[in-house]
Amino acid sequence: MTAMPRNIVAPTVENLTRAGELIREGRLVAFPTETVYGLGADATNDRAVAEIFAAKERPRFNPLIVHCPDREAAAGVVVWDDRAERLADRFWPGPLTLVLPRRPDCPISLLVSAGLDTVAVRVPAHALALALLAAAERPIAAPSANRAGEVSPTTARHVHESLGERPAMILDGGPCRIGIESTVLDLSRPDAALLRPGGVPHEEVEAVIGPLAKTGSGVEARGEGPRSPGQLTSHYAPRLPLRLNVRAPRPGEALLAFGRPTPSGVTMGTGMNLSPSGDVTEAAANLFAMLRALDRPPHTGIAVMPIPETGLGEAINDRLRRAAGPRRLADGAATR
Ligand code: TXA
Ligand code: MG
Repeated sequence: MTAMPRNIVAPTVENLTRAGELIREGRLVAFPTETVYGLGADATNDRAVAEIFAAKERPRFNPLIVHCPDREAAAGVVVWDDRAERLADRFWPGPLTLVLPRRPDCPISLLVSAGLDTVAVRVPAHALALALLAAAERPIAAPSANRAGEVSPTTARHVHESLGERPAMILDGGPCRIGIESTVLDLSRPDAALLRPGGVPHEEVEAVIGPLAKTGSGVEARGEGPRSPGQLTSHYAPRLPLRLNVRAPRPGEALLAFGRPTPSGVTMGTGMNLSPSGDVTEAAANLFAMLRALDRPPHTGIAVMPIPETGLGEAINDRLRRAAGPRRLADGAATR
């Protein structure tokens, strides 16, 4: 264990008070949520929001999620509707992000929306995130606290590995409970659409508001443009090549296993198991930390066993497919 970096702090009352001041001063504070760590800034401050994009080296066309202390605060910045009300009843606080039209009097920085006329809002289910929102006394824009294109952080140390001293403070809340990002739902049009599978399985959303439109096909085919700009960029990419649905790793590959038993004749070696009992929820919580741990020499690649598409398996497989696919930039150029 190396020494604790200076900007990682315990979530004491004093540090939370200081974190709130830092947000009001326009500085960056990384904080835990139930999904992944966020890189937070005052969502109403253009300069502070610009700092997020700079620190992450995030493309300016990729909008940010606004974290709110409660439903009333969220409904105050967007055009709220009945679907949002029912979803908030069922899932907030929790890992569901709702994309809704900006209100005419919306105080949120236009940079947060990255040129769109919508804002993504969520109420996180984490005591420290809610304490920070209370201390800051304003909504907090926060993407995952990693450099653009990297795997999302699920511990304070992961944040420091990605962003170093760029956050003025990293509130250490231990590992994130869910471990995979929130589900992003577009409610800005009559047909609700799933933009990103995440912590709430899409079936649970459909049980509340009915069938969801599929994105990536219908919407773009209708010439309306992508509904979630973030989905165009490569995400969640480890440095080593990743192979999916693998039964037996090749020499040099680290095995990322799921379930029991590991294939006959295969020793785990330096590999890891997402969930020996075959539980997709446990696997989601372990996914990013294990990808980070295996993404280094002497391994030459990471071989991932099949993971069922049920429950959080949908979000896990979405992230793994992105991690295994070719990198796609804004202009479509492949970088590997
Ligand atoms: O669990 C999470 O959602 C974490 C924690 C920190 O809350 N945050 C997170 O943020 O994953 P980020 O920036 O890494 O991902 C946000 C996603 C991106 O795919 C972005 O394109 C999409 O949400 N998004 C944000 N605002 C949007 C908008 N107005 N319209 C469409 N998509 C939007
Ligand atoms: Mg992210």
